Amino acid sequence: MKFLASAAAVCVALLPRVSAKIYYAGVAQSSGEFGVWSATSTKGTGLPGRFGVEYQFISTAGVDIMTDKHKVNLHRVAFLLERMCPLSYGLGAKFNETHFDHFKEAIDYITKTKGAYAILDPHNYMRYNDPSSQPFSGSVIGNTSDPTAATTAQFGAFWGELARRFASDEKVIFGLMNEPHDMPSTLLLANLQAAVDAIRAAGAKNLIIAPGNSWTGGHAWTEGGAEANNNWLHKLADPANNTAIDIHEYLDQDFSGGHTACTQDPAKNLAGVTAWLRQHGLKAFITEFGGSNTTACTTMLNGILDYMAQNDEYIGWTAWAAGPFWGPNSPCCTDQKQLGSLEPGSKAGDGGPSLYDTVWVPVMQKKVPAELQWSGIASVKGGKTTAKP
Ligand SMILES: *[C@@H]1O[C@H](CO)[C@@H](O)[C@H](O)[C@H]1NC(C)=O
Ligand SMILES: *[C@@H]1O[C@H](CO)[C@@H](O)[C@H](O)[C@H]1NC(C)=O
Ligand SMILES: *[C@@H]1O[C@H](CO)[C@@H](O)[C@H](O)[C@H]1NC(C)=O
Ligand SMILES: *[C@@H]1O[C@H](CO)[C@@H](O)[C@H](O)[C@H]1NC(C)=O
Repeated sequence: MKFLASAAAVCVALLPRVSAKIYYAGVAQSSGEFGVWSATSTKGTGLPGRFGVEYQFISTAGVDIMTDKHKVNLHRVAFLLERMCPLSYGLGAKFNETHFDHFKEAIDYITKTKGAYAILDPHNYMRYNDPSSQPFSGSVIGNTSDPTAATTAQFGAFWGELARRFASDEKVIFGLMNEPHDMPSTLLLANLQAAVDAIRAAGAKNLIIAPGNSWTGGHAWTEGGAEANNNWLHKLADPANNTAIDIHEYLDQDFSGGHTACTQDPAKNLAGVTAWLRQHGLKAFITEFGGSNTTACTTMLNGILDYMAQNDEYIGWTAWAAGPFWGPNSPCCTDQKQLGSLEPGSKAGDGGPSLYDTVWVPVMQKKVPAELQWSGIASVKGGKTTAKP
């Protein structure tokens, strides 16, 4: 019996998961967080920043090409907490309305004009008050030993207000935070719970995606002993049962997305987090992954995209990154060589083809499912999938 039971278990594990389905697929739109970095860590650099000069959220032309030509239904739009909630206001429910209007215009363009889904992405690493040396500067939100830190309650108030403003748009997805790191996991969970509670208290039923600690790295999900994400993230409670896990996974030696060479097998490295998702009945998005234009990266990018398509724990993805302000710079994976971005029309520093031409078009775009969800609320259960209307 023992033998039979384990043989059956092996068969089940090897069977393709026929119900696996990607409902949401697209790109990260990175640039709302641009323009604040300072080589001398000068606090306040680029704040509030000039919209359209130092930062912007999307290029409508780029979103048009991605959505109409490449048939993606998801854009993850980065913004900065210090611009939405200026330091003079503090983190909370009081927004810079001028800034919010620019942001809302970008989100409305994606969801209402183009009919796609949008992830709101506060690109703050669970820190607030000094983005000059992101991802390391700024006080960790909720750090009660730091009198300058925003509180967990303030983080909740911020999300409650943002959710109230987007509650009527079922195509908006709330990405609670980009890449928390180097903080106690108990505090991470408390902050995430405050946000979920405030979002639901505001009456918003929208899909939420919640990140883990350690840069929300999929490969690291079960690492770090008592602090490991697999001991914490399933404890996040959502009264609306509409929260998925937000994972990042790069393919280079140190999982940073800094290097040209892809050497980390995604199927092997994601096995732990996938088993944990299955154990707790959770779904996930991979909202950052990427690779350069090498043969090994092509193989591994196909690998991670196929892995998500074949494992029903994964329901969506966004590749890193498009965005209007990259110019010839690369968002990832090039050892700081300037190979351009995933933004349509971008060029490499040498005027040659960009990652849009060498990675998005030949590799990633081919894995955008022919049928995705194009109407109804974004949900952990997915929705009806169709060809792009
Ligand atoms: C609000 O945003 C606008 C537009 O970026 C900017 O001109 C203004 O200075 C900001 N206000 C504060 C208080 O940061
Ligand atoms: C919290 O603040 C204290 C005092 O500034 C600091 O020593 C500690 O490193 C901070 N904790 C985190 C997780 O940043
Ligand atoms: C959420 O799931 C729990 C456990 O399955 C269930 O009891 C509850 O009714 C669900 N709530 C909603 C709003 O669907
Ligand atoms: C990658 O793209 C850059 C810029 O277009 C080009 O110079 C380089 O030769 C490409 N590398 C490979 C391996 O194709």
